[in-house]
Amino acid sequence: LKLAILISGRGSNMEALLEAATDPSYPAEPVLVASNRPDAKGLETAASAGIATASVDHKLYGKDRESFERALNAALEKAGTEIIALAGFMRVLTPWFVTRWEGRMINIHPSLLPKYKGLHTHQRAIEAGDAEGGCSVHWVSTGVDEGKVIAQARVPILPGDTEDSLAARVLVEEHKLYPRALAMACEQILAD
Ligand code: GRF
Repeated sequence: LKLAILISGRGSNMEALLEAATDPSYPAEPVLVASNRPDAKGLETAASAGIATASVDHKLYGKDRESFERALNAALEKAGTEIIALAGFMRVLTPWFVTRWEGRMINIHPSLLPKYKGLHTHQRAIEAGDAEGGCSVHWVSTGVDEGKVIAQARVPILPGDTEDSLAARVLVEEHKLYPRALAMACEQILAD
């Protein structure tokens, strides 16, 4: 399936997906990396891997989320996108866009959903005294971080952990989980 990856920043999860997709038997073929931030580091990484990139700056569209999304959608359609992986994409998507890509869009979230939707997940897990943290890959639905979970990975929370130390431990697992979960999502789509 033709894969578009949406990012807003560093793009380390995007890199993990691009790396997995270098295997010719991998079920997703990256055709586009798009960012809502023109200065996202990940755009350079993608370009040097030879992947087409697009930047659709949400700031040029003011408060009108849908007109930003229509521009983004045009870039996705032009590239022939069949599945979208959100990878550190920090814009909330409207029901219009989510419905357009229903069953074709997945996201990685740094918590063990349904716990800690939204931001500051690691800090909240530490403050709650949780013994474990982790990450989840899920289908995107109209509620933020609400869609059906595809796969999760867990890590221990250790005494003395900070938001940063826990985030780093989880990130290692994100990079292993996301390629595996994207392959699972592709297989589900291909089986339908
Ligand atoms: C990851 O922790 C992801 O789960 C979260 O934002 C971070 C993005 O990192 N939503 P990167 O851009 O993939 O390096």
